[in-house]
Amino acid sequence: MEASAQTNRTDPVRLKDYRPTPYAIRTIDLDVRLDPENTTVTARSRIEPREGTAPGTPLVLDGDELILTSVAIDGRALGTADYEATDKRLEIFAPPAGAFTLEVGTRIAPAKNTKLMGLYRTASNYCTQCEAEGFRRITYFYDRPDVLAVYTTRIEARKAEAPYLLSNGNLIERGDIAGTDRHFAVWHDPFPKPAYLFALVGGDFARISDTFRTMSGRDVTLEIYVEHGREDRGAYAMDSLKRSMKWDEEAFGREYDLDIFMIVAVSDFNMGAMENKGLNVFNDKYVLAKPDTATDQDYANIEGVIAHEYFHNWTGNRITCRDWFQLCLKEGLTVFRDQEFSSDQRSRPVKRISDVRLLKSHQFPEDAGPLAHPVRPETYHEINNFYTATVYEKGSEVVRMLKTLLGAETFRAGMDLYFARHDGDAATIEDFVACFAEASGRDLSQFMLWYKQSGTPELRVAQGYDASAKRYTLTIEQSCPPTPGQPTKLPMTIPVRFGLVGPNGADLAFEAVSGAEVAGDVIVVTEPKHEVVFEGVSAPPVPSLLRGFSAPVRLALELSAEASLFLLASDNDPFNRWQAAQTLATTALIEATRAVRAGAVPSIDPKLVDAFARVAVDDKVDPAFRALTLALPAEADIAREIGSDVDPDAIFAGRDALKKAIATGGRTAFRHLYESLASAEAYSPDAASAGRRALRNSALDYLAHAGETDSVMERYRTADNMTDRLAALGLVVGLGLPEAEAALIDFYSRFDGDGLVIDKWFTVQATAPLAATLDRVRALTEHPAFSLTNPNRFRSLVTAFATGNQTQFNRPDGAGYAFVADHVLTLDEINPQVAARLLSAFRSWRALEPRRRAYAEAELKRVLDKPGLSRDVADIANRSLG
Ligand code: PHE
Ligand code: ZN
Repeated sequence: MEASAQTNRTDPVRLKDYRPTPYAIRTIDLDVRLDPENTTVTARSRIEPREGTAPGTPLVLDGDELILTSVAIDGRALGTADYEATDKRLEIFAPPAGAFTLEVGTRIAPAKNTKLMGLYRTASNYCTQCEAEGFRRITYFYDRPDVLAVYTTRIEARKAEAPYLLSNGNLIERGDIAGTDRHFAVWHDPFPKPAYLFALVGGDFARISDTFRTMSGRDVTLEIYVEHGREDRGAYAMDSLKRSMKWDEEAFGREYDLDIFMIVAVSDFNMGAMENKGLNVFNDKYVLAKPDTATDQDYANIEGVIAHEYFHNWTGNRITCRDWFQLCLKEGLTVFRDQEFSSDQRSRPVKRISDVRLLKSHQFPEDAGPLAHPVRPETYHEINNFYTATVYEKGSEVVRMLKTLLGAETFRAGMDLYFARHDGDAATIEDFVACFAEASGRDLSQFMLWYKQSGTPELRVAQGYDASAKRYTLTIEQSCPPTPGQPTKLPMTIPVRFGLVGPNGADLAFEAVSGAEVAGDVIVVTEPKHEVVFEGVSAPPVPSLLRGFSAPVRLALELSAEASLFLLASDNDPFNRWQAAQTLATTALIEATRAVRAGAVPSIDPKLVDAFARVAVDDKVDPAFRALTLALPAEADIAREIGSDVDPDAIFAGRDALKKAIATGGRTAFRHLYESLASAEAYSPDAASAGRRALRNSALDYLAHAGETDSVMERYRTADNMTDRLAALGLVVGLGLPEAEAALIDFYSRFDGDGLVIDKWFTVQATAPLAATLDRVRALTEHPAFSLTNPNRFRSLVTAFATGNQTQFNRPDGAGYAFVADHVLTLDEINPQVAARLLSAFRSWRALEPRRRAYAEAELKRVLDKPGLSRDVADIANRSLG
């Protein structure tokens, strides 16, 4: 259904309206004959009424842009009086009373499918994407996650066009079709699954194979399919897959369940990757890597996404979601699992800091703006717009809090119960939480609010120490700001991991505590206000709260700069050492921004500069951790902390001033660091080597900000891997150095034709904080390597500009907004999902200073006023303005 042309508004889908379907579909046999313009699909389904369905209840199936070619029940073609078909639905007025077989023929044109949902073309291959509602673009079906069927899929194609024919499950038959240039394959997936997990691929690929022996001794064939000529870029993905399979056995007792596991890397894909049963389909940027084309971040992303999709086999596929409101049941949980995997494979504190940075930079702003929604929403207009940082990242934090509250062992017992009880089910969040309530004996009804209330809760904390009584008091108050549809909030369960850091840096003991439940090193906040009283505290402590970021909340605690510097140096929780540096920097950055807006020159505290320089060269500390500590809060983070009347130019200037002060004050330290970290060893993507590169590139960044720009071009020229080359290119271009043009030309000519690397070239230019950037981005939209139909190309230029360039997207003349809105409208006719994501770059518009705010609002209105918008874009525009 398109939004109505006049208002671009539709009625929402509501959680409270959930009803099971009147019919169950037990099996579906698909016969798909691939052709770019004229693919035919025959779907034969075994259907039966569910208990309680009145005889004669109509069968209403979903469709989208389908052409119906035939419909029969139990072998007899239906007459036109028996059914009604539109391109959106098929209604059989009076199906037989008992079980029956429905056979539906449809015709589709994959070559015309630019939405990349359903069956589409990528390069010269065919592939499908069915989550969330793409299967209905292949055949008429109950396209919803609570209808689980056993799939048998026959695929037929011209042999030359598609030598590989793949689908879910196990291959049961294949062969040539005599006397033709065609062949076929039949796949059978024994595990009942919802339609969103269906996949089919046909095409010509290079194949990388391996095997994995499971914990019970079964051998599983592993296959990764990539574009010809990219075979040398699949090894890291394969290695990540094997490590993921092993880890899930060890950490969660989960074994793989089919004889084969396949991954296909495609170059046109709306999202990151998709967990289709036994046949994951990946955006190729999360598969392909070799040292001279992929950065350390790319390697880490590949490891994480491969793990994520693999882990879905249990959390998502074996146990799926009852309805799309429960999306976090699979996504939040699976993100938690992939984060834990990466923590175990790499450095846990470093991984935690990276994850929290992502949460704060993506989820916190979402939760603070017009697009805020609960981890489990209760209404939606377009489900595609709910694959959000809130559902994924905050959803993972909620699972992490369960583990913090219950302890590792009880948490594992709850997971075991969940797997045992719900295997084969389409489950709900209530089902999930009930397993932990049962395993722990704890009442988790207040905890459920984490799934229901949107907005980032805030903890206000005050402290007091009574030396004569040796009594230390923390006064903790919680609140949660109003969010769309939720003007008032109830108090939540907030686990606060803590330590009372004594003068020598060690945590102080206490003899007794009252005023809140304290389990080990966790204060369980449940009331609007707690007075937590610690008895027998021998000296005045510095409180270290929310260690490891134990809850996704904002913490308001007045700590002196001395106290923060002390925590930075001494806290035994590495996360809070990092947080102390962030807190210090944030305070300085807000001050500097205020000074710039007042027309003054920001003055930077030399103690802060000194602390950063000291961290840089502290050899006792892991280089990756040092690099993260040296990374100043991003402009968007500062904007979020300022909260209203935001001037992005002032933030940039204030941040630049702090960066230059640290760079100048710490020049010797950074020079030393840069030189001492030079390595003669061949590139390896492991975490330790990546950490050293990150620290060295951070030193380079500071040196460049101190005016030592010679090293940058030198770095660019001599780099033997993409991490270093791209870091240098980013500095040359971002600082507008004279060599920028030459470096860009060199980079392009080195990687011409390599789409994923050209994406980096686009992004470096789109994110340069320079007045000339918008014109350059506009010109690049005409570049032959740019594409409106390939999501990676489009995002690397236009979305990167909108989300990764605070000053130029938010130009004071509004031209950045106008450019982005134009592209939203253009792309909406091609790919509404990617267009809607781009539009959400406006989500913090209300926090801007008045002039920019007015320009942004006008552009949002201009988008919304266009007749015939997709539901995806209309939903984001409506909510953004709402
Ligand atoms: N389910 C995918 C994941 O692993 C994301 C996705 C959603 C991919 C919709 C494609 C379409 O997170
Ligand atoms: Zn997922």
